[in-house]
Amino acid sequence: MKNTVLTLQQQKRNGDKITMLTAYDYTTAKLMDKAGINCLLVGDSLGMVMLGYDSTLPVTMEDMIHHTKAVARGAENAFVVADLPFMAYQVSVEEAVRNAGRLVKEAGAQAVKLEGGKEVCAQIEAINQASIPVIGHLGLTPQSVNVLGGYKVQGREHDAAVKLLEDALAVEKAGAVALVLECVPATFAEWISSILTIPTIGIGAGAGCDGQVLVYQDMLAMFSDLSPKFVKKYGAVGNLMKESFERYAQEVKDGIFPGEEHIYNMDEEVLNELKK
Ligand code: KIV
Ligand code: NA
Repeated sequence: MKNTVLTLQQQKRNGDKITMLTAYDYTTAKLMDKAGINCLLVGDSLGMVMLGYDSTLPVTMEDMIHHTKAVARGAENAFVVADLPFMAYQVSVEEAVRNAGRLVKEAGAQAVKLEGGKEVCAQIEAINQASIPVIGHLGLTPQSVNVLGGYKVQGREHDAAVKLLEDALAVEKAGAVALVLECVPATFAEWISSILTIPTIGIGAGAGCDGQVLVYQDMLAMFSDLSPKFVKKYGAVGNLMKESFERYAQEVKDGIFPGEEHIYNMDEEVLNELKK
């Protein structure tokens, strides 16, 4: 059965942890969906793991729509969330609603996610009023890398923690249906999760969140440009891929591949006739 915003709310109430992974293409989305992952996030992290940029800043609405379409086609049961990329919602409330609408209407997302606290609450309210569920994102917000000065833990000191808490409450009040907490101390994230009525989904925020999210290339050890502490590697898929590519190349060169079982045959007589 298709997961909805109601499923997420119910999971928080029942203490049933929400599972989310990033997805950017049909094949991977389908595997995750079949594995029973609750939510697929088409993250703007695709700029880094799929497109090779060194941050998420260059990602466009067209990039997001392209990948969200593919993921939506592969998600039979999973709830599909798409990120609003940098500069798709910051300039005005009107642009935010229009771009959120494109991710739902053109690409097939069920919800959108955007980064920030009080400064984006007008956007969250307006998108919500347009009947599009919004997920917030606080703590380490990668679209703000240039003001944060790097990718590091957030909300450790008193003033930063007060701001994060106020932002979380504001985002909930503005109508967000869930909140991603990225790189926040575990005890703090657990406490925020107990205060909020909406589910929190943590990444580098400990087990006290109502759900967890990871970038799939990180958890499969496919991506080595960054290697944050919070990533657990569930498979050496990167190595498996590289070894498979090497073996393929070697077998082609050695004439081992393709073998008898991989070829199509034709009537010998037809060929002999041609050769005359
Ligand atoms: O873009 C992304 O992958 C994300 C998750 C890390 C939460 O925003
Ligand atoms: Na993101």
